[in-house]
Amino acid sequence: MSSPFRIAPSILSADFARLGAEVSDVIAAGADWIHFDVMDNHYVPNLTFGPMVCQALKPHAKTADGTPVPIDVHLMIEPVDALAAAFAQAGADYISFHPDASPHMHRSIQAIKAAGCKAGLVFNPGAGLEALDYVIDEIDLILIMSVNPGFGGQSFIDSALRKIEQARKRIEATGRDIRLEVDGGIKTDNIARVASAGADTFVAGSAIFNAKDYKSVITAMRAQLDASLKA
Ligand code: DX5
Ligand code: ZN
Repeated sequence: MSSPFRIAPSILSADFARLGAEVSDVIAAGADWIHFDVMDNHYVPNLTFGPMVCQALKPHAKTADGTPVPIDVHLMIEPVDALAAAFAQAGADYISFHPDASPHMHRSIQAIKAAGCKAGLVFNPGAGLEALDYVIDEIDLILIMSVNPGFGGQSFIDSALRKIEQARKRIEATGRDIRLEVDGGIKTDNIARVASAGADTFVAGSAIFNAKDYKSVITAMRAQLDASLKA
């Protein structure tokens, strides 16, 4: 895969009555990762799916030639550790959590890595990046929320762009390979702007799953990303 960019459709906006087929369809349409939004009706005011659903979807998370497609688990739950371990068992590849949802953030990161997954930290629109100060060398992914977590279909919050720029500077200072992901309100008409701010991985729920033709949306997003590289 030569592009630096990853497009990660969020199955929060998929048809829950046919999730396995939705995962297969969106991969056939060009998805690089599958984004899996876990909500507990406690950390956020909504409730979605748990490790058993992740395990059931795992066999669908591959391309037609059998190449595995990473499952990107975004935990919006509190506390983090017990379910993170369960998601590692269930086939998650990336597991990200909100620092304010764990009393022992460093320990939670280590637990995710010890379970064989890549670990990420997620930053809400109102949160600064200070939580990275002492752990950025431990993580594989930074996820910047460009909406308040809990629901699909919200509008992109512009201040996320400044935060993405700051996160990119912090990543560059480490010299490590850390993915910089953005989540919320990503559409074909703003994805290039978000890439220019420094993001390389793009969650999109409603923009893809509310469209009739997933492939045309993903292809249009990729064209925007390619053009942003040349700009
Ligand atoms: C919101 C979730 C997002 C959501 C994005 O809490 O974390 O992943 O699915 O949805 P859209 O792309 O519709 O804003
Ligand atoms: Zn998410």
